[in-house]
Amino acid sequence: MFAIFVLLFVASLADLTLQAEEWSYGEENRWPGVCTVGRHQSPINIMSQDTVLDMNQVHIRGPLIFRGYRNVELVASNNGHTLQWDAVRGDEAPIISGGPLRGNYTFLQFHFHWLSEHAIDGMKYPLEVHLVHIKTGLTMEEAMERSDGLAVIGVFFMVNRGYESAYALEQLTPVVPYIKNSHQNQTESRKYDLGRIVSYEPQSYYTYKGSLTTPLCQEIVTWIVMDKPLFITADQYRLFTNVDVGGAFNYRSLQPLNNRVVYRSIASCASLLAPTLPGTLLSLISCLSSNVFSKSFGAVWNIKQKLFGNSIKNNV
Ligand SMILES: *[C@@H]1O[C@H](CO)[C@@H](O)[C@H](O)[C@H]1NC(C)=O
Ligand SMILES: *[C@@H]1O[C@H](CO)[C@@H](O)[C@H](O)[C@H]1NC(C)=O
Ligand SMILES: [Zn+2]
Repeated sequence: MFAIFVLLFVASLADLTLQAEEWSYGEENRWPGVCTVGRHQSPINIMSQDTVLDMNQVHIRGPLIFRGYRNVELVASNNGHTLQWDAVRGDEAPIISGGPLRGNYTFLQFHFHWLSEHAIDGMKYPLEVHLVHIKTGLTMEEAMERSDGLAVIGVFFMVNRGYESAYALEQLTPVVPYIKNSHQNQTESRKYDLGRIVSYEPQSYYTYKGSLTTPLCQEIVTWIVMDKPLFITADQYRLFTNVDVGGAFNYRSLQPLNNRVVYRSIASCASLLAPTLPGTLLSLISCLSSNVFSKSFGAVWNIKQKLFGNSIKNNV
């Protein structure tokens, strides 16, 4: 009975990439359907000054909650476009909720893009991971029909020389040589700590409504893009660039924002508080006054009071 369940689960994952053979990153203008005509496509360039701090918690309600992220059984493969780690036991897969999400979302898989797909203030990172979650209880077919069908967490990686830089990808990189070639599966499943690749500040992020970044580019994704990058070593990065994904890179070009709003979490401003340097204060004020709140000095002042408490009186 359990074996049957696992097979069904794996089969439903395969549907997501059913079209995988027919497209390439070199020919985006030939991608089908909504990929070229959709107005809510991903990835985007996130201009931090244009993002909206959601003080009234209309879109971001409370903290993002991660359950079961620490010990997850996964199988790795190279699908010809990326390296991907899929959950093996669907019934035990991690679940996220809270933040901009309404209800629970079950983890399906994560995969990598090099260079990053999203950009922040016009800047790309060497690597970006996408942790894909489906609204709990929906089949893949049902999720594809709903604007809230999927939730994807994007996390950037920067190459850094520091001693601890290997930590985030330490569990993953030993597998990479085994799935270097296109259409290769890792032989057996292993347990991973997904917390390592999420973020060390998981409440600090941008969020917007967008699409899958591969065909069929369905506009069903609540994107949660962590604003603090994690670190990797130069050797780890080199492993990725040697992987066969049909070309030198595997990222989609930036898509127009059109009429969408990118929200930022309160923590993404609050985290600027830590060191009390004048520069930090300036960036905090610009963070707080980004977009809607610049209209009203009073509102900005209230937020400052909320974040600084009494300490603002000592600092100013
Ligand atoms: C989400 O999952 C938790 C824990 O399993 C459960 O208590 C909660 O009711 C679920 N929420 C929804 C909206 O289904
Ligand atoms: C890899 O695993 C997937 C899912 O289990 C399966 O559909 C596919 O055929 C496998 N590929 C190879 C080359 O074994
Ligand atoms: Zn992706």
